[in-house]
Amino acid sequence: MIHIKNVCQLDGTVGSLTIPSSEHIELDVEGKLTAFPGCIDAHVHLRTPGHTHKEDWRTAAQAAMAGGITTVFDMPNNDPSCVTKERVLAKKQEIDQQLQEIGIPLDYQLWLGAHQNHFNEIGKCKDLVIGVKAYMGSSTGDLLLDDPNALDELFRIAALENMIVAVHAEDEEILEEKKRQFLGYSDPAVHSQIRDRKAAIKATQQVIALTEKYNNQVFIMHVSTKEEIDLIREAKKRELLVYAEVTPHHLFLNESAYVHLGTKAQMNPPLRTVDDQKALCEAIQDGTVDTIGSDHAPHTHAEKNLPYGKAPSGVPGLETTLPLLCQAYHDDKISLEQIVRLTRTNAEIIYDLPSNKDYVLVDLELQKVVDNAQLKTKCGWSPFAGQMLKGWPVMTIVQGKIFYV
Ligand code: DOR
Ligand code: ZN
Repeated sequence: MIHIKNVCQLDGTVGSLTIPSSEHIELDVEGKLTAFPGCIDAHVHLRTPGHTHKEDWRTAAQAAMAGGITTVFDMPNNDPSCVTKERVLAKKQEIDQQLQEIGIPLDYQLWLGAHQNHFNEIGKCKDLVIGVKAYMGSSTGDLLLDDPNALDELFRIAALENMIVAVHAEDEEILEEKKRQFLGYSDPAVHSQIRDRKAAIKATQQVIALTEKYNNQVFIMHVSTKEEIDLIREAKKRELLVYAEVTPHHLFLNESAYVHLGTKAQMNPPLRTVDDQKALCEAIQDGTVDTIGSDHAPHTHAEKNLPYGKAPSGVPGLETTLPLLCQAYHDDKISLEQIVRLTRTNAEIIYDLPSNKDYVLVDLELQKVVDNAQLKTKCGWSPFAGQMLKGWPVMTIVQGKIFYV
């Protein structure tokens, strides 16, 4: 049993916490730490199999512990992509081995990739995965489902199998057209023009229409524009089971970041405007946003230092999501209860997860600068490097094991 005395609860009262464990540990944190339920990050790219030079589950699990993340859902854009039962099982085996080596019993789930040639695998994977992920626009990896008929078929099958569909909602046709228009441009800021907001809006409209047709549960990942928020808010009013995820980078960064970050501000969907950031914040306040997912998408320094057009899209985020949200709490932009809903309870409900006794103990007064040298992620950088944040995880408890940050 782990018994922690004098821990602050979210309502400010001080009490004790008892967690089942094979170890016997007594701690007194003297009212200095606040207990949050361990965070669920339903959107990570931990790069096994195929891209373990960017990240693996040993480094990622350490990064998760440092960030107070106790459950992750891993995306299927691997090499090979995770689109069949056989690949799901092989991937799980590799992950379990890596986690065992590092001794961190990180809770995890896998997304199955939607691939037109493997729709017959969806039903077979029903009990093995958390849901099925469709890339409507191309991004890192070779997964792409841009044929409207195939997308329709996916939604039909997913509804039949009662599986959640997660979508990367950017319209491939618009992306292609814009790529041609901006061919040869070298300023990374052009990324936000190529991946035009119209692409995200059109794809989101398409997804909502399909959800209505087949009665799906659908998660629109990394919502980045005001218009998508408006569409989702309206869909929710009509009681469609449409859920929205936002990422910390779309909340806390905007297009101005290209000036100092260059391609380290390049991700899909891209950074947007200050007005979009405001719309995302409002959507958090009124409950339109259901979860915050890091979209942890590590690439090496060397890869990101390539010129625009060659550098891959994506930023790491496992270690900074919770500190960024704690800073937002200190800035009066979000309450602690909202943080818990967005990082844990909403996901538990929507994905129907079994309850667990994972916790993260946060020192809400601790101020620290995000320091690349201290990060556990294999990629070793953060788009938030250099920022002073107030409120950091100190201890993460997963499946009865304590990890000190
Ligand atoms: O920026 C991104 N990076 N967006 C994605 O959709 C994929 C991700 C990655 O895997 O690198
Ligand atoms: Zn992603």
